Amino acid sequence: MTLLETQKLTRAYGGVVAVSEVDFEVEQGLITGLIGPNGAGKTTLFNNITGLDVPTSGTVQFKGKNITGKNAHTICRMGIARTFQNIRLFKELTVLENVMLGRHFKVGRSASTGRLATALKSFFSMEEEESIMREHALKWLSFFHLEHLVDELAKNLPYGHQRELEIARALATEPSLLFLDEPAAGMNPQETDALMKTIRKIRSLGITVVLIEHDMKLVMNICDTITVLNYGQNIAQGTPSQIKRNPLVVEAYLGKEDA
Ligand SMILES: Nc1ncnc2c1ncn2[C@@H]1O[C@H](COP(=O)(O)OP(=O)(O)O)[C@@H](O)[C@H]1O
Ligand SMILES: [Mg+2]
Repeated sequence: MTLLETQKLTRAYGGVVAVSEVDFEVEQGLITGLIGPNGAGKTTLFNNITGLDVPTSGTVQFKGKNITGKNAHTICRMGIARTFQNIRLFKELTVLENVMLGRHFKVGRSASTGRLATALKSFFSMEEEESIMREHALKWLSFFHLEHLVDELAKNLPYGHQRELEIARALATEPSLLFLDEPAAGMNPQETDALMKTIRKIRSLGITVVLIEHDMKLVMNICDTITVLNYGQNIAQGTPSQIKRNPLVVEAYLGKEDA
């Protein structure tokens, strides 16, 4: 079943067409890879799907609903989460607080009227909400075996753990679809291996994963299907073995990896 689909999605910045009439499909339950040279439009495509940017033209459908141009908060609430190419953590907050904020972003707060009774009620429901958030956050931190680091400041974590923390924060919004922008960037081989196992574990929870990645070992190992962008265009999609043998892809991207 198709979970998400773009149709002729285009994003132009003045004269630069970063994404050009891209049809991109995400099948529910699979790990989809999005690859291509630097500047191919991969992050722009993510941004235009997740509400950080608005397409110039074209559409995005999620679970059969048109979500084109909706804001990031709304899209998050509908069940789409993401991480960023450059880690975006609250470095001065603790590990636990970072993950709780992920959850908060999804749940939000209802406005209080300012009257005392309402304010008190809202205070106690906030307390309750906070303990639920804490539980959820701890659940995801133990998923990454980070529970012993809950009180550590995010900035003190080793790089690999910071990347995991960012994924934990995204998962705390309880998404059905997770976008990862270069999750292995800067990781050492052991960290990358651990990440590979984690992404498979995320899929086994029934969460659909789309990842941008340059580490071809990781991509070819864990992706069920791969889409290739080049100069903003979708030039190929298929299984890892089909993509490896596709002459257009070898010419545009994979060939250069060997050089
Ligand atoms: N906000 C922006 N303003 C102007 N140009 C942009 C902006 N964002 C991306 N671009 C351009 O769009 C193209 C695609 O960029 P990007 O999506 O980051 O590529 P990738 O993630 O595949 O490396 C690049 O040429 C980049 O310079
Ligand atoms: Mg990018």
